[in-house]
Parts: sequence; structure tokens; C-alpha cells
Amino acid sequence: MKILVLHGPNLNLLGKREPDIYGSQTLGNINSLLEELSRELVCELSILQSNSEGELIDAIHASRQDCHGILMNPAAYTHTSIAIRDAVSAVGLPVVEVHLSNIHCREAFRHESMIAPVAVGQICGFGSDSYLLGLRALFNIIKKRNAA
Ligand code: DQA
Repeated sequence: MKILVLHGPNLNLLGKREPDIYGSQTLGNINSLLEELSRELVCELSILQSNSEGELIDAIHASRQDCHGILMNPAAYTHTSIAIRDAVSAVGLPVVEVHLSNIHCREAFRHESMIAPVAVGQICGFGSDSYLLGLRALFNIIKKRNAA
């Protein structure tokens, strides 16, 4: 099983960026935790961070070839990108949306997600655990779908 992990804009600055909101872990730390969990679950990860909407969309399109699902923190594009939402709908792979912070108790413009209606589910507010919970949930969904 192969899963695409996408990190959206500004997440390359984790650790330095607003640590009171996003915590002190770097993106490298989070990716190591995900890799560790993927070895436990026995699945392969392909991980990409991009600040560019087009690059994220290209990666979603390419995932059709060899991935079974997408774990995604679209960051600020969550709230704006109909193009990323359309890419998710177009490839038809199961997507789990994750956020470090609880977007529902922050500014009003963060309450709406363009992606959530086309995702299997959304996990937010647990820091790096949001990613780990999301990976477990996505892994189980893919396993169930493959068994059906
Ligand atoms: C975020 C929440 C978004 O609102 C914000 O734009 C981000 C990070 C999170 O992980 O909490 O960049 O996706």
C-alpha cells in the first residue's frame, strides 16, 4: 500500500512559525514520526511539501498512478482552493484532511474547508498527532476498501 502525504504552504517553517499555535516540532520531525508509523503499519509513504498550489495539484494527479490514498494538510489552501478540491474529486482516491491546530476555534475564515466535503474525514487540533491519527484512519479505510 502506498500513501501520498502532502504538506501545503508555510509548513516548511514549522518549528519556527508561530510555535504557540503550531508547536515546536519541525516538518522533518513530523515526517520521521509518519515514516516510523508507516513501518509499523507496513505501508509506503511518498511525502511532498510545497508552497505552490499547482505543484500540489500535479502531485494529486500523479498519485492516481501508484497511490491508494492521500493524507493532506492543505494549510491555507484549505480555505481557498477550489482547484485542490477539484483535483481530489478528479482522482477519486480517499483523502484524509489534517491540521495541527483546531481550525474551528480560530479566525472565522479558517472555519470553512473547501476540501472537507470531498475528504473521507478531517482531524484537527492535535498537533503532530493529527497526522498520525490521520495516517492510521486512512490506512484502515484503504484496507477495508481493498478487502471489500
Ligand atoms: C493549518 C491551519 C490553516 O488554517 C493554516 O493556514 C495553516 C496550518 C494547521 O495545520 O493548523 O497553514 O493547516
